[in-house]
Amino acid sequence: MKIARFSRIGFILAAAGSAVGLGNIWKFPYIAGEYGGGAFVLVYLFTVLLIGFSIMIAEMLIGYLGRRDTVTCFEKLAPKHKHLWKLAGFQGLAGLFIMIFYSVVIGWIFNYIVTSLSYLPASVKESEEIFTAMLHTSFWTQFFYHTLSFIGIIYVLHKGLKGGIEKLNMYLMPALMIILAAMFIYATTLDAFGQAVSFMFSPDWSKIDADAFVTAVGHAFFTLSLGMGAIMTYAASLDKEANIVKSAFWVVFLDTTIAIVAGLMLFTFLYQYGSGPAKGPGLVFISLPAAFYEMGIIGNIFAVLFFIALAFAGLTSSVSLVEPMVQYFIDRFGWSRLKATVSMGTFFWLFGIVAILSNIDGAKEFLTWGGKNFFDWVDYFTAAVMLPIGGFLMAVFVGFVIPRSEVEAVMKPQLKWAFQPWYFSLRYITPVAMFVVMLSLMGVL
Ligand code: PFF
Repeated sequence: MKIARFSRIGFILAAAGSAVGLGNIWKFPYIAGEYGGGAFVLVYLFTVLLIGFSIMIAEMLIGYLGRRDTVTCFEKLAPKHKHLWKLAGFQGLAGLFIMIFYSVVIGWIFNYIVTSLSYLPASVKESEEIFTAMLHTSFWTQFFYHTLSFIGIIYVLHKGLKGGIEKLNMYLMPALMIILAAMFIYATTLDAFGQAVSFMFSPDWSKIDADAFVTAVGHAFFTLSLGMGAIMTYAASLDKEANIVKSAFWVVFLDTTIAIVAGLMLFTFLYQYGSGPAKGPGLVFISLPAAFYEMGIIGNIFAVLFFIALAFAGLTSSVSLVEPMVQYFIDRFGWSRLKATVSMGTFFWLFGIVAILSNIDGAKEFLTWGGKNFFDWVDYFTAAVMLPIGGFLMAVFVGFVIPRSEVEAVMKPQLKWAFQPWYFSLRYITPVAMFVVMLSLMGVL
């Protein structure tokens, strides 16, 4: 079978496209806000460097050595216990589960692109009413845009790795960066920029407790797309000469820079024109549109551009969330790409409809258990359970299961003196950290 390979820049952009998503532009600013800014940002940066970067390299290495879908990668690299380890490959399912709510949120963003063209809410109160009306009563609007997102994603995926995924990222990633850079430059000219900088970088350590620490670790995973086989699946199509460490560095660098740039920009707008930073998940859909309104006509342009950038970020991540299971059915069952894409897409499309319904008045009562609706349960289950398990398994797999000589043969020439600290961190620091995070997020600790 002839396997398509990414070009080198194509791989970096695709992996960065996976990493840079709703997590960076929507989630990072509001959780940074909730935990008081500076100190949280520093903990997050520290986690990204110490844990995220080393698992990124490990996950790329598994794909690079395995060269196939995630299940086959684990099987091939652990011949003695392949029936056990192949289960780890089913982490790819987490991507499909995440897509259940991710696609719905992309649908909201599409809706916001269209409505911001002609209208922005004049106050936070009005903005909140608009958002909650969409969430709780507009089933068909959400259904329509969720379906549009589903069609776009399967269209790109059915075009394959080079003609679909690589091409999408080659266009959307630079476009996303240009839009954010332009808005960021504008933000630097505003008085409130200094306030945003000090909010994000002057640490208030009193706000950092175990909970903040755990959130930072969990977010580092989510934002870097780790633990689910997305990066692994892409790395399986990396050319043999590629440098894993350099690629991982670029992905981590772009992901972190974009999160910080987006955070600074949003906080500047919110300080200058809006109601300040700590606004929770509604930051982008509620507080921000009202701040754009205060900017006048440039606010309309910015609103549309901002939501376009957010949609781009979401779409490039989405393809990476679905691709692992698509690849699995192609590799293991000989399905055509079209069949695999449409089937996987149909899965998240159908459950996405349930996710929409779980917010709709009249239906949500039937789709809520234990204080969380279906939408929130999927989010919680993937982030609190599947993701840390994936990270834990990958670290242990590279640290203890793949023979050290094989790991060394590829990684030592690239990491040089850093090989030993990396390997040590994979074996002893990361698995323990992941375990603690998982227990805390599940509420056990
Ligand atoms: N990294 C993406 C974000 O920050 O939104 C989300 C994501 C994509 C998580 C792909 C996991 C993944 F495999």
